[in-house]
Amino acid sequence: MKHLISPLDLSPDELSDLLDLAQEIYSSPEKYSHCCAGKKLATLFYEPSTRTRLSFEAAMLNLGGSVLGFSSADSSSAAKGESVADTIRVMSFYADICAMRHPKEGAPLVASMHASIPVINAGDGGHNHPTQTLTDLLTIKSLKGHLDGLTVGFCGDLKFGRTVHSLIHAMVRYPNTKFVLISPKELQVPAYIKEETLDPLNIPYEETTNLEEALPKLDILYMTRVQKERFFNEEDYIRLKDTFILDKQKMQLAKEDMLVLHPLPRVNEISTDVDDDPRAVYFKQANFGVYVRMALIMTLLGITVD
Ligand code: CP
Repeated sequence: MKHLISPLDLSPDELSDLLDLAQEIYSSPEKYSHCCAGKKLATLFYEPSTRTRLSFEAAMLNLGGSVLGFSSADSSSAAKGESVADTIRVMSFYADICAMRHPKEGAPLVASMHASIPVINAGDGGHNHPTQTLTDLLTIKSLKGHLDGLTVGFCGDLKFGRTVHSLIHAMVRYPNTKFVLISPKELQVPAYIKEETLDPLNIPYEETTNLEEALPKLDILYMTRVQKERFFNEEDYIRLKDTFILDKQKMQLAKEDMLVLHPLPRVNEISTDVDDDPRAVYFKQANFGVYVRMALIMTLLGITVD
């Protein structure tokens, strides 16, 4: 049995096969509409979500399977003190596969150690969000045609933004990737990512506080919101939350074929006047999330369609 806890749990070949399958499902969804008949997905969400939970549920329903689960810790026996380990032991009787979001880093890993079904990390604290990474990779591959040779700018809260951490880990596996890390000083990418990943692999990157200067260099701009829920004090959040706002005027500085991605939800960091720009692909990205999660469910359940 295999779990997806970190974006690196899939080998480059497995990842490539998974993205190919997602593209095939996107092209011919009807071919896959019954392949998970009789299978159940449990969504165990201890933290709020719109896209991840509902795209997982849509994915399983699109495959002909069923879904069950809870959408907040308060509505589960976690509110009475039940551990993740006990919860997953029980859920292993009720479902064939599970997606878990938890505010504590490492909780889905703990669950995987006690589960007898595949566990998918649907976001753990400020750590990782591997299925968002799969969504991001499918978006870039589908719309750019390739994943290598790209200069990727990450902008916003690079300290707490788990989608950023996961995508950096995934993108370093493609040749000639460069990063421009755009954030306030207080919200820079954690040191461990630079020391354990970027520096040892000699990945070119620069850190800056200036979005306007960075924009002309980028093939991909990955905007993120400042993660209010991970701040220890509200004053810091209020001071930093509107540091970067991408608007129509700033988009004039970008390449004609730059893509703007955002994992969503958006707060203020992308002005709505950017939404009609053909380079703004964050809603398409949310749609790709369903297809890549369909491919992931099939892969982890070992289901194939001839
Ligand atoms: N991108 C993402 O994780 O969105 P949700 O928090 O709505 O699931």
